[in-house]
Amino acid sequence: KKSVRDVEVAGKRVFVRVDFNVPVENGQITDDTRIRETLPTIKYLVEQGAKVILAAHFGRPNGQVVEELRLTPVAVKLAELLGQNVFKADQSVGEIVKAQVDALENGDVLLLENVRFNEGEEKNDPELAKAFADLADLFVNDAFGAAHRAHASTSGIAAYIPAVSGLLMEKELDVLGKALNNPERPFTAIVGGSKVKDKIAVIENLLNIADNVLIGGGLSYTFLKAQGYEIGKSLLDNSKLDLALSFIAKAKEKGVNFLLPVDIVVTDKFSADANTQVVDIDSIPADWEGIDIGPKTRALYADVIAKSKLVVWNGPMGVFEIEPFSHGTRAVAEACAKTEGYTVIGGGDSAAATEKFHLAEQMNHMSTGGGASLEFMEGKALPGVVALNDK
Ligand code: 3PG
Repeated sequence: KKSVRDVEVAGKRVFVRVDFNVPVENGQITDDTRIRETLPTIKYLVEQGAKVILAAHFGRPNGQVVEELRLTPVAVKLAELLGQNVFKADQSVGEIVKAQVDALENGDVLLLENVRFNEGEEKNDPELAKAFADLADLFVNDAFGAAHRAHASTSGIAAYIPAVSGLLMEKELDVLGKALNNPERPFTAIVGGSKVKDKIAVIENLLNIADNVLIGGGLSYTFLKAQGYEIGKSLLDNSKLDLALSFIAKAKEKGVNFLLPVDIVVTDKFSADANTQVVDIDSIPADWEGIDIGPKTRALYADVIAKSKLVVWNGPMGVFEIEPFSHGTRAVAEACAKTEGYTVIGGGDSAAATEKFHLAEQMNHMSTGGGASLEFMEGKALPGVVALNDK
């Protein structure tokens, strides 16, 4: 795929789709990773003398103008990180926006308002896509985190003007693509999270490529139950028991080392002041709920991670947001930080956990995509990538 480096941008109006869907608490951005990760593309375009028009979504306003979902705090943060003035539009299409674009000088940066204030954005309305395209000479998609969405500003727009990837998009596709298509071995995939149904496709795909698959989090109890263990009040998806067994069988058949927890932390209630105990998986008390992987499992998983050449991690091992239930996720994060193998953190909750434990710097690649990196690892084509026409 062509990137922004492969085309002429000087003096051109460039519509750059970014993923600025950052966490905000009380009007303050609590994690600006996604903004920082787009700086190479924006700075490159500024240095080359392009007129940079940034487009992003924020939250899920469903086609309405929602005041709390304006991108104003993002514009402020971006200006600070960029060390340059950032113009901010109050809409993302229309006459006023056109005039603001016309007023741009080479090297200026304009951030459009939340594209999801338009009804047509999520519907991938061709009229809206065309209106975006009319603002610019070139489309650069740097929004890897939103590449699994076929929306007007991520995909539709590419039908009307030349479309290439940004530098972050290029980096994400390069790292994740290499991991899945040509992995260094042993290749260990760690899959956690609460729901089996969210991770079926990724486990299925990983069974075809990984040497080790380590399972943790709420989804592991369905696997344990399928094997006949009593799981007390732990999370269970009754409809996926057969599927869980079939994964275990498939792993055996393919020679994949498929590891489930051997001990777990159980709790009598879902809060920080709860009672907890560590039990082996054959002794889960009936009234208690599994909430984290236990110390034996942590050691076992850490050992596999230490011996791996490539580790891809998606989904926490327990409820890491609550301290007493966070030790399993922390142990996996620490093992990833320590291993000499190449580590890829698959965005979303695993990235948030890694940030929380201050271990992000020690990972080789932290994906900016949650849903997008998951779909990529499922082997799916991402609409925002498919749309790039490389003209
Ligand atoms: C994300 O945060 O994963 C992306 O920005 C996509 O957001 P969405 O799930 O609201 O489409």
